[in-house]
Amino acid sequence: MSSRLALLGGTPVRSRPFTSWPIFGKPEEKRLLRTLRSGKWGRLDGPEVALFERRFERMHGCRHGIAVVNGTVSLRLGLLAAGIRAGDEVIVPPYTFFSTASAVIEANAVPVFADIDPGSFNLDPAAVRAAITPRTRAILPVHFAGQPADMHALLAIARRHKLIVIEDSAHAHGASYKKRPAGSLGHMGSFSFQSSKNLTAGEGGILVTNDDAIAATCRSLQNCGRVPGGLWYEHHRISGNYRLGEFQGAVLNAQLDRLKSQTKTRDRNGQYLAALLAGIPGIHPQQRTPGCTRHSYHLFMLRLDPRQFGVPRAAVLKALEAEGIPCSAGYGFSLHHQPMFRNKAFGPYLPEQSTKLDYSKTHCPVSDLICREQGIWLGQSLLLGSRSDMEQIADAFEKIFENREALVRWAGKRKPPDPSK
Ligand SMILES: Cc1ncc(COP(=O)(O)O)c(C=O)c1O
Repeated sequence: MSSRLALLGGTPVRSRPFTSWPIFGKPEEKRLLRTLRSGKWGRLDGPEVALFERRFERMHGCRHGIAVVNGTVSLRLGLLAAGIRAGDEVIVPPYTFFSTASAVIEANAVPVFADIDPGSFNLDPAAVRAAITPRTRAILPVHFAGQPADMHALLAIARRHKLIVIEDSAHAHGASYKKRPAGSLGHMGSFSFQSSKNLTAGEGGILVTNDDAIAATCRSLQNCGRVPGGLWYEHHRISGNYRLGEFQGAVLNAQLDRLKSQTKTRDRNGQYLAALLAGIPGIHPQQRTPGCTRHSYHLFMLRLDPRQFGVPRAAVLKALEAEGIPCSAGYGFSLHHQPMFRNKAFGPYLPEQSTKLDYSKTHCPVSDLICREQGIWLGQSLLLGSRSDMEQIADAFEKIFENREALVRWAGKRKPPDPSK
């Protein structure tokens, strides 16, 4: 397979598109139309969101599911309901979407970054231990890409230091750890239903928990501070309207019927692709950890070591795209390097603490290396295809490796981008 790279005028490995996302059909149409015609479009009037909450909580073996407008709000309400107070520290990974840390700030608490493990891309328990101070109140692990974090170690740390654990399960619908659903292992699990997610209604989120008191607070926070049995215009705590609408509930109920088989397909294909790629020098797919009994593969993520592979990441990504494989570099820098952290642009939050914090001193070299040089993401819908789709992805990587010298020459000849344009 030393045929010329598509980037250099050769024939692409793949010319057909991969499975597109979202996947929908008659069940979504039926529920949406029924909701439309019922005239019951709000969560307080119709059956869809309430039904979805019951189904989602059951799926997680939890007593409570509280649907909200998105997965950022679910994190924030979870932190508030857990009793996180102004200035409390919450340990988060630096390799995650902005919201994992921004929700902490919007709860008036302080995100403290602990580095990730270079194999699993999840929070490194040793780094978490090192980040604990007398002000630490919670750990917010992300099940990154859909692989559950090392919950055994993280829960042991939490027990020892009496910390709350909120699992950011935005990537982990249907994933499991030692056969237990991701999101059900800590005090709370938070999920997102934003467009790219493995379970989606365009937007949306949910919190699941077995803690009755936390659930009651979340439900009140989700509904303008109202309480059961209270009057409509009676508000017991500061909050807002974070209720999910019935159209989204309708879509989620239909999508949920598809989730189990889609998750099995993604997991099967993800493991197959990881095995196919394993022999290529410099390609390091996310390592499957022993506790992972179901990986939901929101992303297929790998590290490309440019020295071992022989080509810088940017050129590999260009070459992959040209071969017909959609891909991206993922996050460009660790969260603490975001301008928001660098400039402490925290708005009205953390007014006192913000003067003491200096995120430029945060040291997370693994996350930095993956962001700057090594991370490669393939989206979840690629894994909904056939085994031969996986073989084509692996063929593209192999073809690029075999043509690495030509690719390096091509990259060397390209003019650096003009910063004025
Ligand atoms: C890890 C992680 N946490 C939280 C969120 C926030 O979810 P939402 O976009 O629904 O607010 C996302 C969404 O992209 C995410 O990837």
